[in-house]
Formats: sequence, C-alpha cells, structure tokens
Amino acid sequence: MSVSRVRVQAPSNIALIKYMGKKDASLNIPENASLSMTLKDLCTTVELEIDSEDGLGKDSVRWLNELPTQLPSLNPSLSFDVPMIGQAGIQRMCRYSEALPQIFYGSQGQARWARSKKTFRTANSFPPSSGIASSASSFAAMTLAVACAYSEDPVAFAEEFNESPQLRRALAVVSRQGSGSSCRSFEGPWVYWEEQSAAFMDSVQMPELSHFVVLVEAQPKKVSSSQAHHLVQTSPLWEKRLQNVHQRTLRMEEALRQGDLPAVSHLAWGEAWEMHELFHTCLEPFSYWTPGTIEGLHWLSSFLGEALPPIVTLDAGPNLHVIVERNQQDLWRERLKNQFVGVPILEDQPGSGASILSIE
Ligand code: PMV
Repeated sequence: MSVSRVRVQAPSNIALIKYMGKKDASLNIPENASLSMTLKDLCTTVELEIDSEDGLGKDSVRWLNELPTQLPSLNPSLSFDVPMIGQAGIQRMCRYSEALPQIFYGSQGQARWARSKKTFRTANSFPPSSGIASSASSFAAMTLAVACAYSEDPVAFAEEFNESPQLRRALAVVSRQGSGSSCRSFEGPWVYWEEQSAAFMDSVQMPELSHFVVLVEAQPKKVSSSQAHHLVQTSPLWEKRLQNVHQRTLRMEEALRQGDLPAVSHLAWGEAWEMHELFHTCLEPFSYWTPGTIEGLHWLSSFLGEALPPIVTLDAGPNLHVIVERNQQDLWRERLKNQFVGVPILEDQPGSGASILSIE
C-alpha cells in the first residue's frame, strides 16, 4: 500500500479594484482588471491524503472539515465553529478537484486520480460569512494540493513552486476557472489580474500595513457573488462603471507604486462604493449593507481627510475592511474596539501567497 499526504495553505485576498462582472462566465474571465492585497493568516489549509493503490476509483473522494481550526495568532481570543465549508461547497470542490489531474498531467494524471482513494481535510482560519473570500483561499489551496500530490515527484514540485513564479501563475490560471478571485491568492502582497492571468506587482512602495475586518454582521449573505456578477450588468450604472474602472485601475497602480496612501485610500473608497451602487441599482436590487455597515462607513469617512487615512473597502458582503499603516495599528485597534463595542474584529497582514506546508 502506498499512502502519501500533502498539506498546503492558501490565503484569501482583498481587492482594492474589484472583479465584478464576467466577460465569460464559464471560464471566469473578468470584465475588468482587478488589483488585490494578498492576506497572510486568514487562509484555508487543505491536507490531501492519497492512497494510490486503493483502486476504488473516482467515487472514493472524501471531504472532511476536520483539520483543527487555526485562527491567526493575531486573533487569539476569537473562536469559531467548524465545519467551515458546507455541503454545497464540498460538492463544488469535489467536482472541481476531479478535473485537475487531467488538466495538469493529462491522461496519466487522470489515471493516477482514478486509481487512488482521496481524502481532503480542510479548515479555514476565519469564520464563514465574514466578508472574507473563502472561495478564493479554498480554491487556491485545493488547486495547489491536487497539483502537488498528483505530480510525478511532489518534492521536486514543491521546490519548483517555491522558486518559480511561472508555476504559481500556471496554477492561478487553473484555479481561476474554479473561483475567479482565487487566482490572486498564489502570490503577494500586491496582485494584478487581467483576463486569464494574475501576477505579482513589483515595484510597489507601500509602507508596512495591517488589515482589520470588522464583522458587523455574521449572517450568511443572501446573494452569492456568482449571482452578483450576473446582476450588476443590468444596472443603469454598468456602462459608466466599465468606463471608470480602467482609469481608476491605472491611478491605483500608480498610487501603489508611489506609496501614496491618501491616493490609495481615496481610490479604494470610490471603488467599493461603485461596486455596491451596482448592487443597489440593478434590475433586482439587493444590498449587503446592514445598519452596522452604514454606521461604520459613516464613522470611517471622518478619517479619510487625515494625512495617513485608512484604506477602507468592502467585499461582496456587509463587513468592513480597514487597512492602515502598521505603525498605526495599535491606535486603530483601540479606535475600532471603542467604536464597534462587542463586534468581533479580525486582524491580519499582507502576505506572499499560497505555500506547501508538508509532504509525507
Ligand atoms: O471569485 P468570486 O466569483 O467569488 O468573486 C468575488 C468578487 C469580489 O470578491 C466581490 C471582488 C473581488 O475582486 O474579490
């Protein structure tokens, strides 16, 4: 009997220029380029165990939400229930994972997959429905785990993965087809994604940053991001959005390269509002905002004129992402705690993307 085990981790990411709307829904080709900050500890861990001589065939995929939950060390006081991935999510992941060995390694990969029994064990380091893209981290981790475990030589694969941006980008192209935003989780801290491919942005001069997520609402969101991608195109603001976003992306790239925090903050604020305006004005209007979101945005807006303003953004959800200079992190932790009394607040930092933790 031959059993091997690969454990990987992939972080989520938060977009400052959003991926919203698809040119091609089957391949997740975005309407516009997007730009994100890769996170570090807010991540998904996947352990893939394969028994390569089990011979049970393709029905032998097991998915267990049973790795210990690993909360970021920065959030020691918070605890959340596992499992983090529901049944529908598991089915989507299983369908996706089945296609991967063939994509990466052709018929030999497919044969290795078909002969083996697979067990996926997984955990997220953040709660579900927290406004952190769990599909980004899960699909990135899954793609990496399967690509590594089914390669001819997983150890050599891991070495190449650590050294080669090309391999990371090739994996990102595949992962994108499972979840668009996952393609931005293979590198970091700043990643630009256009059309098929995502890549690390070099020459960014931003200061060291800290990232807070204020969980003003813990309920699962009622409109999935897939539905949102479709609905936004029915907004009367959609055409204008397509015109705006290109210029804003160029300005954001420039601001990041210059390390111009006020400009990044200003552009990110406008971008988050524009995405949510699309939700509010489409043919079947919906909103992710709760009273806590609106109150929080109102309060945060009063800091935007400061010399070192926070970068404030929202994902497709109600929770508030606040990114600040690292040397202001203690000040902001206190401010946020005082303003959002009793509200859970996650903390993280920019990170460098997916990693292979162990191979046995
Ligand atoms: O990857 P998806 O289909 O879950 O898209 C999510 C897109 C947003 O998170 C709303 C924005 C972004 O660019 O991450």
